[in-house]
Amino acid sequence: MKKIFINGSPRKNWNTAKLLKSAEEGAKAAGAETTFINLYDLIFTGCRSCMACKRKGISEPCKCYWKDGLYPVLEEVYKADHLVIGSPVYFSEPTAMVRAFLERVTFPPLSYNDYSSTFKGKIDTDVILTMNIPEKMYKDAYEERIKAFFEPFNYLNGETRLHPVCDTLQVSDYSKYDMASFSEEHKKEVHDTSFQDSLKVAYEIGGMQSV
Ligand SMILES: Cc1cc2nc3c(=O)[nH]c(=O)nc-3n(C[C@H](O)[C@H](O)[C@H](O)COP(=O)(O)O)c2cc1C
Repeated sequence: MKKIFINGSPRKNWNTAKLLKSAEEGAKAAGAETTFINLYDLIFTGCRSCMACKRKGISEPCKCYWKDGLYPVLEEVYKADHLVIGSPVYFSEPTAMVRAFLERVTFPPLSYNDYSSTFKGKIDTDVILTMNIPEKMYKDAYEERIKAFFEPFNYLNGETRLHPVCDTLQVSDYSKYDMASFSEEHKKEVHDTSFQDSLKVAYEIGGMQSV
């Protein structure tokens, strides 16, 4: 089983990355072949609307033909069984790089003939979202719009599951920053308790076998 882990945070060792690394460990323990990608290391853009993936007579319809830093990653993703993508929430949405990735990976399989998917495989996608707000606020204010945001993953023919990880520790020493609306004590307590549980959940997510 081939699993791809995509870090959509610019930070390589913070909340999102830690959860994804735990998920990758779970996958490895379950015997999967894994690849870990930091999106912010790559030079790429969102869909360029080159329309190469919609040209009549192309040998591979489900392929992104735009050759930038994401090109080899997309080739790997289409061969995977399971995609685990993590993103911090920035202004109520996943990060710009995650949006760009989403456009690039889901526009090629979208058929403009009948809106079906031209992708022959099936990739289940788990989305790990980290954010400052508490879980209740996520449910009330973010969940529906973020679900809608990731709907294009349906063109990969699998299930898309969201996993919110709320109230994250944003910096290690709040006293050094103008961040008076947050309580460092509370953030550290959440980090030492529910964030540790989320790491275990991420491990399980990584180890899940597709059905
Ligand atoms: C530019 C920016 C915008 C943010 N916007 C939000 C937001 O709208 N809602 C929220 O809950 N957290 C927001 N955050 C906080 C991050 O989502 C949160 O700290 C996240 O866990 C960071 O992930 P990381 O530690 O993997 O980098 C924002 C952070 C940044 C840097």
